[in-house]
Amino acid sequence: MKIAVLTSGGDAPAMNAAIRAITRVGIHRNCEVYGVFGGFQGILDQQIHELNSRSVSRILHRGGTFLTTGRSEEFKTETGQKKAAKILTDRGFDALIAIGGDGTMRGLAALSQHWNGKLIGLPGTIDNDLYGTDYTIGFDTAVNNALEALDKIRDTAEAFSRTFLVEVMGRHAGFIAFHVGVATGASAILMPETRTTIEELAQTVMKAKERAKSSVLVVVAEGDELGNADTIGKALSVRIGEKCRVSVLGYIQRGGNPTHFDRLLATKLGAFSIECLLSGQSGGLVGEVNGELVMTPFEETWTKKKPLDQWLLGLLSELSS
Ligand code: F6P
Repeated sequence: MKIAVLTSGGDAPAMNAAIRAITRVGIHRNCEVYGVFGGFQGILDQQIHELNSRSVSRILHRGGTFLTTGRSEEFKTETGQKKAAKILTDRGFDALIAIGGDGTMRGLAALSQHWNGKLIGLPGTIDNDLYGTDYTIGFDTAVNNALEALDKIRDTAEAFSRTFLVEVMGRHAGFIAFHVGVATGASAILMPETRTTIEELAQTVMKAKERAKSSVLVVVAEGDELGNADTIGKALSVRIGEKCRVSVLGYIQRGGNPTHFDRLLATKLGAFSIECLLSGQSGGLVGEVNGELVMTPFEETWTKKKPLDQWLLGLLSELSS
């Protein structure tokens, strides 16, 4: 079987571990494995090169993606998708594995309308916002990156008894904010999945101060409906009569060496994708749900919503009391 692999959309730590597993397990099981450089655009530009086991040496521990990534405008068009299908057919490919987030899964679903090769998606995004897997590749590392930063901010916040708003990534989802917020003992977590008014936030902060808390941390997902941390921080400062400090963590969350959890998840899903292809299964996202490796049709990965842990969510005010 001749297999192409690519990474698309925002990079995520341990994408490299997935590429390594796909390449090595694939070659070991008599497949030819090709790397597409630059995401879906790389198919259109024919940046497709054969990989061997040594091509993926020394990448297991590295963040980013050695295949590089992209967000191709051309591939979003039907003409682009048809062109990609023709290139894959002309070059004799049987299968394509793409690692990325919801945009990547949409790209695979679109390509399936024009190409009859086998398609498999791997969940690679720090946002963890794909249905069909409990965790996405890169999420754990991003949360740990943010955690480290939050712990440092807590030190300086305590030294001055300050209120801090810390913005984390998550344009459409609050998984990073939620996990980091719980793990750092935030007084409030603002995310797209929940609704909080400035007045409610002000009450939470003022009550924390009344209880003699030495610092107050508020974690804000960048996609929160109230706006970004800067906007919310200004409104909150006016309401509580204290200048709130704001830190935006930004891209630092997306880089760095992946955690053991992400390396293992990526390795399992990479190897599983090859096993799926060789046993005739394709047309979906491979993921891990309740400890089992499963495949979910592409469309469900973005039409169905993976919920936040409602029990833990309900405990927030008790935990930060
Ligand atoms: O990878 C997902 C994500 O980190 C989002 O949380 C964020 O909004 C977005 O990517 C930003 O990435 P870029 O600037 O590369 O589009």
